[in-house]
This record gives sequence, structure tokens and C-alpha cells, in this order.
Amino acid sequence: MSAAPTLAETREELARLLSDARTSGRKVGLVPTMGALHDGHASLMREARAQVGDGPVVVSIFVNPMQFAPGEDLDRYPRTLEADLELCAAQGVDLVFAPAVDEVYPGGEPDVTIQPGPLATILEGATRPTHFRGVLTVVAKLFGLVRPDVAVFGQKDYQQLTLIRRMVADLCMGVDVVGAETLREPDGLAMSSRNRYLDTEQRRRAGALSQALVEARDASLWGADVALESARAEMRQAHGVDLDYLVIRAADLGELPCAVPDATEARILVAARVGSTRLIDNMPITLGATSASTRQGVSACCAP
Ligand code: PAF
Repeated sequence: MSAAPTLAETREELARLLSDARTSGRKVGLVPTMGALHDGHASLMREARAQVGDGPVVVSIFVNPMQFAPGEDLDRYPRTLEADLELCAAQGVDLVFAPAVDEVYPGGEPDVTIQPGPLATILEGATRPTHFRGVLTVVAKLFGLVRPDVAVFGQKDYQQLTLIRRMVADLCMGVDVVGAETLREPDGLAMSSRNRYLDTEQRRRAGALSQALVEARDASLWGADVALESARAEMRQAHGVDLDYLVIRAADLGELPCAVPDATEARILVAARVGSTRLIDNMPITLGATSASTRQGVSACCAP
């Protein structure tokens, strides 16, 4: 049995508990979460440990109201602090920061917030226009409170990860942002706190998202258009899965040029609703890397 992590609920407790690490010059690692922790989060904690060695690993657990629009699942988002603390203990986490809303937003929503720019208007941002402003604002606050050397985020929320990297670079925040690989269930479904909303039949249907991505990855050597069509064919066969988007973008989520050189690293991203649950997933793909596609040295592009 690993020792339980220390629980800090206020900024003062957090600052006091971290001051030792700072004076001893050890690195501080942060894993920001909204709780309802699962094995995917555990892998982020292991990555943080690998990054900071004997420095403290801090996990924040905070369901951030600013990133939910009215009508979204803020109220029903699972809150499972006891179980979360056990998972953190099993991963050797040193400190859990689980503040109340007033502690993070003492005067309500702040006047000064992070404007995420154009990348936040596509994909998830097209249906959730205020989401990434809320995400970046709370992540900036957590960075200010914890002052981590390294912060670990899951690649499952790839647009979020890309925007956080952009914020850190554009605002010179000096935090090393690590993107950890997505953990999957045996049928390929990406682990997510929201999977627990699915009933048995929906859970079975949800496997179609990752299957579509795998189809695309397997076909990607023939170029983006073929890869995308393979994924679309898989989604067309999926019953009870309401597709929102299925696109291939450059690794930085920019548009692919019309002719991409062979072996271009790209991302395929999908979002769909299963019942009332919105699921997202993505995978890295390498476009046009076969001798067949290298005949012309380029692959065709695909519009989003
Ligand atoms: O990915 C999440 O769980 C949240 O968006 C984050 C990064 C913890 C910010 O609230």
C-alpha cells in the first residue's frame, strides 16, 4: 500500500506544502484533472513521476465551471474524490490539490482571461465556442498556483493539448508540457471519465470511433483522402453513433497542404454523440509512406 497523498484544499496549503520542494531545487510535476480518475490518468501520473524523479508530483482535481457552457454536463460530471485519492495513492502522488470553486475563482469569473485564438474556433470549438477559453484560463491559474516545471496532459484531448502548448509558448510560461499517449480499453475505446455515462449498448457502439481511426491509420499509406474515406466507411456502418466531425489535419492542427510529402506526420480526429454523450478521439497517422504512394512523392490532401 502506497502512502496517501497530502490533500491541499486552499492556495495557502498548496504554497506551504510545495515550498520545501522549491527550496531544495527539485522539479515539480503537475497533472491537471477534473477527477473521476481512471487508468488513463494513472498513466499521466507515471509520466509525471518519470519526468521529475524524486520531486513532488501534484495532481489537481477541479471540475472547472468556466469550461462548461450552459446546458452541458457540469452538474452531472462525476465527482469521486475518495476513489480519486486512492488512485493517486497507488501511483505515489505526493500532493492532491482539490480546491472549491471559490478558491480558484474568488470573485467569480475573472475579468482577465486567456483568449485562445483561431485554433479554438475549429473542431471542438465549433460546437463549444467558450470551452477553450475556460480551459486555458484555469490551466494558466493552475500553473500560477503550482508553478510546475513539467505538466502532463493526455493526447486524447489533442486540441486542448495543442492549445496549451501554444499558450505556454506565446505567453512564455516556462512550463515543459508533455503529451502522454492515450490509454484504451480492450476494444480500442479511448479511456475517458465520460465513458461512465454510457449504458451497455452505447458502450458497445462507442467502439466504432477508435475502429474508424484504426481503419484510417491502416490506409494512411495511400494518402489522406483514402485514409479519410476508410474511416468514413467504418462510421457509416456504426448504428446509434451520430458523427460530428471526422478530419485529418496537420500535427499542429493546421490545414494540410494540397500535396503533402511522403511520411508526413498528421492527426485524424473524430467527435460523435452516442446517446447524449459526446465522445472524442484521435490518432497520429503517417501519410503516404509506401513505395506505391512515393511514386509521385506526394499524397493528395483532404479538406476538413
Ligand atoms: O482535461 C481536463 O481534464 C481539463 O480540461 C483540464 C485540463 C484539467 C482543465 O480543467
